[in-house]
Amino acid sequence: MAETTLIKVNSEHPDVSSVARAAAVVSQGGLVAFPTETVYGLGADALNPRAVRRIFRAKDRPADNPLIVHVANLEMLPLLAEQVPPEAEQLAERFWPGPLTFVLRRRQGVAEWVSPGLSTVAVRMPRNQIALELIRRSGTPIAAPSANRSGRPSPTRAQDVMADLSGRIDLILDGGPTTVGIESTVLDLTAALPVILRPGRVTRSDIESVIGPIGQPPSGEELKRSPGTRHRHYSPRAKVVLAENASAATLVRLCQSFQEHGKVGFVGCSSLDLIGEPIEQVLLENDPNA
Ligand code: TXA
Ligand code: MG
Repeated sequence: MAETTLIKVNSEHPDVSSVARAAAVVSQGGLVAFPTETVYGLGADALNPRAVRRIFRAKDRPADNPLIVHVANLEMLPLLAEQVPPEAEQLAERFWPGPLTFVLRRRQGVAEWVSPGLSTVAVRMPRNQIALELIRRSGTPIAAPSANRSGRPSPTRAQDVMADLSGRIDLILDGGPTTVGIESTVLDLTAALPVILRPGRVTRSDIESVIGPIGQPPSGEELKRSPGTRHRHYSPRAKVVLAENASAATLVRLCQSFQEHGKVGFVGCSSLDLIGEPIEQVLLENDPNA
């Protein structure tokens, strides 16, 4: 494939001609990375099997890991879902557009390439003007996994997408950094009791406040059958050591002990006394919503 084009777009008032250009790429079966409120997505026309297969190839994504389909309005849902349960309607009213994905029974004969081998489809409406305008202008639901090579961290900036997928996709719409930064909550509404398959910004208690008690998340053998849990995720190009409940002194010693093997970074909620050491520190907020 030729070079990947990057276009900057204002995320509140997206420039019409830029989004129209991206929509034309989608209509022709091409691949466009675009911002959502969670992470950047790698989008293609969900109703075009060749376009969707190109997503799997560009990401080196395992063929058995299904994609989320993005819609811009509720009228697009019946195109994909056999029936829309009342819980989906109530939750959509409260959380859409927003970081909540529903797994629903798929309409037979529709977009089976989006969730190969499954009778379901995952759908969400993103809370981002560029994403919504792109879907509207393309006139089709857009299948979009996170815009990273399979196994790598999900991108929250256009330059991260470029670093991972340059030369493998047609276009990137750069709408600046995403606001939520983690992927949507995936809620399976096809079981007797709804279950969360992937936690995200919309929490269990948020969901229960609208539809009442939901089921326990899958565990053990059941978890292995849940498609998103079979594969490697969020794998940076570095060794990662998880230190739980370690004292500051232990953490400092740990950082120092790895320095002889190469560059060391520290990610934590409070900074370490590493002045003078060539160790980059990234401070996290104590509140995950901050
Ligand atoms: O926030 C998000 O959800 C981002 C943005 C781009 O919308 N997308 C995203 O897509 O995270 P992806 O492909 O990286 O993750 C999709 C998750 C996977 O864990 C997949 O297994 C699960 O959703 N999934 C998709 N379709 C499913 C289905 N029919 N049944 C069960 N799980 C499904
Ligand atoms: Mg992903």
